[in-house]
Amino acid sequence: MDLHLLVDGRRKVASLEEALRDAIAAGRLAAGTRLPPSRTLATDLGIARNSVAEVYARLVAEGRLEARVGAGTWVADRPSAGPATTAPVHRSTRFDLDLRGGLPDGSAFPRTAWARATARALSGASAAALGYSTPEGAAALRVALADYLARARGVVASADDVVVTHGFGELLALAARAVAARGGRRIAVEGYGHVSHRDLLVASGLEPVPLPVDDDGAVVEGLAGASVDAVLLTPAHQFPIGVPLSGARRAAVARWAEQTGGLVVEDDYDGEFRYDRRAIGAMQALAPGHVVYGGTASKSLSPALGLGWGVVPPAWRDDLLAQRRRSGAATDAIAQLALAALIESGDYDRTVRTLRLRYRARRERFEELMTEGAPGSRVVGLAAGIHCLLELPDGVAEHDVSEAAATRGLRVDGLGAYAATPDLVDARPAAMVVGYGAPPAHRFEEALAVVVEAIRVAARRAPGRSSA
Ligand SMILES: Cc1ncc(COP(=O)(O)O)c(C=O)c1O
Repeated sequence: MDLHLLVDGRRKVASLEEALRDAIAAGRLAAGTRLPPSRTLATDLGIARNSVAEVYARLVAEGRLEARVGAGTWVADRPSAGPATTAPVHRSTRFDLDLRGGLPDGSAFPRTAWARATARALSGASAAALGYSTPEGAAALRVALADYLARARGVVASADDVVVTHGFGELLALAARAVAARGGRRIAVEGYGHVSHRDLLVASGLEPVPLPVDDDGAVVEGLAGASVDAVLLTPAHQFPIGVPLSGARRAAVARWAEQTGGLVVEDDYDGEFRYDRRAIGAMQALAPGHVVYGGTASKSLSPALGLGWGVVPPAWRDDLLAQRRRSGAATDAIAQLALAALIESGDYDRTVRTLRLRYRARRERFEELMTEGAPGSRVVGLAAGIHCLLELPDGVAEHDVSEAAATRGLRVDGLGAYAATPDLVDARPAAMVVGYGAPPAHRFEEALAVVVEAIRVAARRAPGRSSA
């Protein structure tokens, strides 16, 4: 390992000691960082090995380093001496558990299957496949996705229609920029959704126009009068309220798109995870010429992969690809080939089935615990996905629950955090968006116990109440 240490040539030993002490205090050498063997560092610096060993020994004695015979020397976990020069992290900003809507359980990632798929993909990849990729993505993955999406989500797709992106976020940005490049100005969005998606639309040159959301999903009847050029929807499972877009409204969206030439962006972020009956198919099949269908591996595998995909109507494909070329973005080709291998082997389907059972059991347990522990609360929406909306008992405020949870190290946001405009904040009953998929299995019960406790604490603050 290489160390960047400024050592004064005239007083090498003393300045080595100072440099190590400073680097540890400033955090440049983080806890756990291994130091080179004293013999190697001595050779590099041109000083006696014993001198380096003595410097190490002094820093060990001070608690800055740790050493074990045979295991080497490394930076101690908590340097116990010397002034701390890094700013302390504020307690409330450090969440030990994060139950924001949409986060998957990282511990569920199918490591063995992914490693196997990567090995298979690498051994089969041509030299050309390991060069710069085309903006639409690796052919093998586009073929595998077209087949998978048709089979599992009812999407009308050929491999030529598929574009691989850096998650759904990039697909949305490409579609928005393509609409803006054709002169579009406004895009309808669901009144509740990800603030990051709305920000991304604004950054792409479009003005988001919120549609109300009721128990049948987004109120799309207003699309015709809203003077919008496009609409972004989560038809299978409205995010974060959790209801599906009704059949009549799906048909209305398809009619609007056909009549006006408007573009529909379908965010199918968790369509594979439906627990009560067969999944609702993609809306794209109703109007394949007008819908950009988007999917992601962020829920089914991991956001760390940064893999998403779009099925893009032929009339928009070149526009989106032109935006992609202009952005300079490219998706990791090896990860694309690995995902293709994972799908082809059946391991992707197996992973989704395993996760479906796991998340379904979690959702059932969540409902059970909330009924027992937080009477008056109500789980809303489809038995689907990895989050749900939990309406709070009468009088309990979202921010009180978030605050009580935060003091216990858990992040959970109220529905208001997802509202597109302030007037929506009070339009629905107070509710928390709970990502029950997020905690690792061994901390799931603990996380839900914190949610229950936070609701009880908040209930004590509710007007006219003394306990939950
Ligand atoms: C509503 C919604 N859409 C899409 C995504 C996936 O986005 P990406 O593929 O960019 O990770 C998420 C992830 O949290 C989401 O909640």
